Amino acid sequence: MDSMTFVLFGATGDLAKRKIFPALYNLFLDEKLAPNFSIVGSGRSPMEQEEFSEYVEQSLKTFSRREDNDSRMKEFLSFIRYMAVDVTQKDEYAQLLDLVTSREKELNLPENRLFYLSVAPQFFDVIASNIQQSGLGSTKGWKRLIIEKPFGHDLPSARELNAKLSKSFEEEEIYRIDHYLGKPMVQNLEAIEFANPILQALWNKRHIANVQITASEIVGVEERAGYYDNSGAIRDMIQNHMLQMMMLTAMHIPEKVSANGIREEKKKVMEALRPLNPENINTDVIRGQYSSGEIKGEKVIGYIDEPGIERTSKNDTFIAARLWVDNEMWEGVPFYLRTGKRMTEKSTRIVIEFKDPLRGVYKDEAGNALPNLLTIEINPNAGVSLQLNSKNLLNEGKVEPINVMFYSNEENVPEAYELLIHDALLGDPTFFAHWNEVELAWKWVQPILDAFEADTAPLHHYKAGSMGPEASDKLLAENGFKWW
Ligand code: BG6
Repeated sequence: MDSMTFVLFGATGDLAKRKIFPALYNLFLDEKLAPNFSIVGSGRSPMEQEEFSEYVEQSLKTFSRREDNDSRMKEFLSFIRYMAVDVTQKDEYAQLLDLVTSREKELNLPENRLFYLSVAPQFFDVIASNIQQSGLGSTKGWKRLIIEKPFGHDLPSARELNAKLSKSFEEEEIYRIDHYLGKPMVQNLEAIEFANPILQALWNKRHIANVQITASEIVGVEERAGYYDNSGAIRDMIQNHMLQMMMLTAMHIPEKVSANGIREEKKKVMEALRPLNPENINTDVIRGQYSSGEIKGEKVIGYIDEPGIERTSKNDTFIAARLWVDNEMWEGVPFYLRTGKRMTEKSTRIVIEFKDPLRGVYKDEAGNALPNLLTIEINPNAGVSLQLNSKNLLNEGKVEPINVMFYSNEENVPEAYELLIHDALLGDPTFFAHWNEVELAWKWVQPILDAFEADTAPLHHYKAGSMGPEASDKLLAENGFKWW
C-alpha cells in the first residue's frame, strides 16, 4: 500500500461521520493503510483542530465496527488535520495546498493524493477544477478522485458533468462509488458464477428461465423529501445499484478475470440491453407509489402525506421492470428488477430460476411446478441457497423442495466503504462504476424519465407494507412466472 494523503471534502457531513472516518480507522486497525499517511478534512464551518479531532473520535466510537482501543485511536487521530474551505472560492485552495504539502514534508510522504468529494453533487465539477487549478492536483505521485452518486440527473447532465470532470482527471483516476459494488456478496457474484463449473455450465439461456433482482426497503422517504421527490426509485436505485447487479449477473466470463476484463463484459451487457421506447415502457416498466398501510404492526402514512412532499406528487417510490439482454447468452430470458420503499421487508437478493423441463412429471401437491432456484442473498443476510427437489418419505414420498444453504454469519466483516476505499487506495477500479456503464445506464433509463416527466406512464399505488402494486405481479405472470 502506498503512503498517501487522503483529502476529504465534506469532512463534517453525515457520510464522513457514519462511513468514511470509521472505514479509514478500521483499515488502519487492520494494518491495511501504509504506516505513514495523512488525512486532511475540509468542511464549510471553521473548527479548531481539537474540536475536529473530538468530532472524529466520536464518530469512530459510534460507528466503527471495531472495539474501542484508546491508544490506537489516538495514534489514528494524530494523522488528521482540518481546514475550513469554501469550495467555490478558488483562492482558498492555496491554503489547503499549503497544509497538504507541509504535512507531506513533516511525515515524509510521497505526493500521492486521493480526493474524496463527500459533498452535494453540484460541487463535483467546481471542486475538481479548483483542485487542478490550485496545483493540488499537480503531484509527482498519483492523484485520484472519489465521487458518489448521483452522477448526473439524466443523460445530458451526466454527460456534461463527465466532460467537466475529465478536464481535471483522467478516466483511470476517477473512482465512482456505487456502494452496492462494495457489498461483500455483490463482490462475490463473479466467483459464484465463474469459479463454480457446475453453475458456469448452466449460466445461460438454455438452462435459466428468468432472473429476478429485488431490493426492497421498509423505510419511506425519511428526511430526504427534497432529494427523493426529484429522483424517485428510478434514479435512486435502478439507474445505478439495480443495473450494476444486473450487469454482474448477466456478464460473460471475461477472457482474463481482471478489472478491465470485468468492466468490458459489463459494458457488453449494457450494449445488448434492449432499448425502451414509448410502447414497451408501458408494458415493461411499472411505476408505483406507496399509500398508507402497516409495516410490522406499525401504521405508516402514504407518500403524499410525508412532510415536504406535495400532495400532487407522482414520484415513483417503486419500480418493477422487465429487461431483455439481446445477446447469444440471454436471448429470450427475462430479467426482472424490482425496488421500492415501504415494502414488506428489507431484502436485497438475486434469484435465478432454472428451466424446468420435468414440470409435467414432478409437481407439488397443488400441482405447481418445482423449479430449481439459486438465491443469492445480498442484504441484510449474506448467503447463497439452492432449492432442489427431494422425496419426503415422512409425507408419503411426495416430492418437496429442500434448500441447500450457505450463510456467511461471520461477524465483523468489512463494510462496503472499507472495501471500496481500500481498493481506491490500491488503484484497483474493479468495483467502481466506469463512465461507460454510467452513460449506458442513463441511456437505457432516459426514455423512462421522459415518460414519467410527460406523465404518459400510469402510476400504480401500493399499500405500505406490501410487495408493490399488483401490476408488478402481472409483469411476471404474463410470462408464466411469479416473484420468488
Ligand atoms: C442509497 C439510496 O443509494 O441506497 C437510498 O439513495 C437507499 O434511498 C439505499 O435507501 C439503500 O442501500 P442499502 O445499502 O441499505 O441497501
